[in-house]
Amino acid sequence: MKIIDGKQLAQTIKNEIKEEVDQIRAEGGNIPHLAAVLVGDNPASRSYVRNKVRSCEFVGFESTLIQKDAGISEEELLEIIDELNENEDIDGFIVQLPLPDHIDETKVTLAIDPKKDVDGFHPVNFGRMAQGLDCFLPATPYGILQMLERYKIDTSGKHCVVIGRSNIVGTPMSILLSRKANPGNCTVTLTHSRTKDLGAEILRADIIVAAIGIPNFVGSDMVKEGAVVIDVGINRVEDETRKSGYRLVGDVDFDAVADKASYITPVPGGVGPMTVTSLLMNTLKASRLKQ
Ligand code: GUN
Repeated sequence: MKIIDGKQLAQTIKNEIKEEVDQIRAEGGNIPHLAAVLVGDNPASRSYVRNKVRSCEFVGFESTLIQKDAGISEEELLEIIDELNENEDIDGFIVQLPLPDHIDETKVTLAIDPKKDVDGFHPVNFGRMAQGLDCFLPATPYGILQMLERYKIDTSGKHCVVIGRSNIVGTPMSILLSRKANPGNCTVTLTHSRTKDLGAEILRADIIVAAIGIPNFVGSDMVKEGAVVIDVGINRVEDETRKSGYRLVGDVDFDAVADKASYITPVPGGVGPMTVTSLLMNTLKASRLKQ
């Protein structure tokens, strides 16, 4: 069994991006600039956004953080998005999800200029992705592709079972792995809450991508010997022995599954850190496209 070390790989990629930014700076080019909009005080969202801003600083990007309280109206938020769309200093921006219930996330996503949509959530980017056209790929699936590529994991002709059909992970992941590309060329089964005998489906997988948000859901009885196991789950479970009062647990029961897997991603330190590097890569791309 080999651990796919997302933390280390993310650092390698960040170092590569930093080198590129140093070069851009030396040549007097435009420094990529990412803006993040954070609404409310969801602790996980705050932590993710803080991490994104810190990573921008590390690679030498410019970053702008716009923080608004949970009471902001949808109209006000849409105005901020319009301003970011128009602001030529900003290459790309994200609106951290989830948003408070009174704000329509679809409306917000649709308001973002696809050319600045470095999250890859706008239907224009999603549609381009589905057709194999140049686009911004969504951060988590893009990070997983990077892992498969850099660890030279053969995906061609393999049976991949994706668990969870969200717009930001499961559905795009299923499309990307079935594309005629490398990584790709998988036969994909996209499973969800209505799937009959989910355990039996997962057991057929050469590659498992677990993205359902249920702690330790995938047990050893669901995993074929030698399977590649990608765990997207970041679940907070209570743990009074920790100072924070919680610990992070994936969707896969790591201890039970690790011995069976050929490759496995840990939580934390697996897919999570890769999502930030994807965002940085998309921002670098947005900045280049503007030139
Ligand atoms: N919430 C959870 N994941 C993401 C992400 O990749 N981007 C944004 N904007 N919000 C998220």
